[in-house]
Amino acid sequence: MAKGQAKRKRPDPCSFVIFGVNGDLTHRLITPALYNLAAADLLPEKFCVVGIARKGSTSEALREDLMQGLRRFATRPVDDAIARRLLSCVTAIEADPKQPASFDAMRERLDALEQARETGGNRLFYLATPPGAFLPIARELGRTGMLRENGMWRRLVVEKPFGTDLASARALNGELLNLLTEHQIYRIDHYLGKETVQNILVLRFANGMFEPIWNRNHIDHVQITVDEKLGVGHRGSFYDATGALRDMVPNHLFQLLSLVAMEPPVKFDAHSVRSEKAEVLSAIQTQSQEEALQNSVRGQYVAGKIGDAAIGDYQAIAEVRPNSTTETYAALKLTIDNWRWAGVPFYLRTGKALCTKRTEIAIKFKQAPFAMFRDTPVNRLSQNFMIISTEPTEGIELQFNTKVPGPAIDIDGVEMKFRYKDYFQAEPSTGYETLIYDCMIGDNILFQRADSVEAGWRAVQPFLDAWKKVGAAGLQTYRAGSEGPALADELLARDGRSWRRLG
Ligand code: BG6
Repeated sequence: MAKGQAKRKRPDPCSFVIFGVNGDLTHRLITPALYNLAAADLLPEKFCVVGIARKGSTSEALREDLMQGLRRFATRPVDDAIARRLLSCVTAIEADPKQPASFDAMRERLDALEQARETGGNRLFYLATPPGAFLPIARELGRTGMLRENGMWRRLVVEKPFGTDLASARALNGELLNLLTEHQIYRIDHYLGKETVQNILVLRFANGMFEPIWNRNHIDHVQITVDEKLGVGHRGSFYDATGALRDMVPNHLFQLLSLVAMEPPVKFDAHSVRSEKAEVLSAIQTQSQEEALQNSVRGQYVAGKIGDAAIGDYQAIAEVRPNSTTETYAALKLTIDNWRWAGVPFYLRTGKALCTKRTEIAIKFKQAPFAMFRDTPVNRLSQNFMIISTEPTEGIELQFNTKVPGPAIDIDGVEMKFRYKDYFQAEPSTGYETLIYDCMIGDNILFQRADSVEAGWRAVQPFLDAWKKVGAAGLQTYRAGSEGPALADELLARDGRSWRRLG
């Protein structure tokens, strides 16, 4: 049975200004998402897309470039009429933060363009650039008055990575908040664009049966897994300076953790939801460096095979430093110091070049008392897991025990599965559509607030510090195509637990 979708309104007239318009992110995600919004009639009626382009670029050349990107990365067959209509809104304007005068000229051109297009002065500035450019651009936008709201709105979208540690994230927040107010800043985490991730709140709070058991009385532990098959590929320079922990944990894995662990918000609005998320992240126990070493495993992949594809050593990738100690795999044990979760470990793992791509939250419920079956042939009960899964299939699964048909008492584990695709016929999308649409309608519920970004970095900082201190000591290796370092099993085994198998 397919279920329908509620009709959404068109956003206010606005300009969508993209810095980094010739980059990978614009081609891969932003243009296809704008195209999908155009196809769904969800772009403003009066709209212009401004690409901040290299010196000498023309609007025609930019449109052609975006069209090529769209042909390559669109998530559905491209209808030429829709694409043409979208691209007719595109204008190239030059601006370079190293040349302040170019921002003054940009402001004038933007004002003129907006008058002609009647977009009313509402502007969304999208920083699809490397992180080093965020502040120089924001400062120039601030200096030229382009961020000032005066009866119209002005918003800034900032991509990941938001800082590289607690100090740099704080500094970035501090500077941005000197130029804009929090409600103008949209910090993107693409995991919040995923339907299954957004559904976690609905699963928990729109159903009466889960919340009463969603606590330390009934939950034994939680496993959050974001494993990838892909290696580091051509991103050697970025990745070697970043590593698995920074790349994935304070952002994506913590989004999953906060949605699973947060308290019910009083209202389903941005303030209430974001406050509860920040609250639970700040309740993650800050570990000493010694504890961080005990409660973590990091690894780097060496040559192996994933399916039929041979993968080389991580260290052989272009622009990876010789003898690099950057981790391509990280597993952590965290605890949350609050009434709901005291004593319930949260185990997190993420890595590259593993045997499978899997994104899931597995909630393990406490075992039923076995006493009743003591005098029967039953010698074990299967584990009770709820699995919220984004990859490889989007859905929710419950694992429970059932009686095997027959005269004897025999018990076996079975699964009850809900799969999105069996109920809903969603058009294939990039995951950015909702995020971009929400920026345009001014709903920041799916964006990270300054306090939760900082709470995330605060929780991982002891791991970053401890790993830096010990360098190569303790860095495990694992074969590409395996389940990760063997020591990651130890992290759970010493608590009498085990990871769900990946294979
Ligand atoms: C990005 C990371 O933010 O997320 C990548 O920089 C990673 O290294 C990607 O591959 C994973 O996203 P997804 O949606 O494929 O799980």
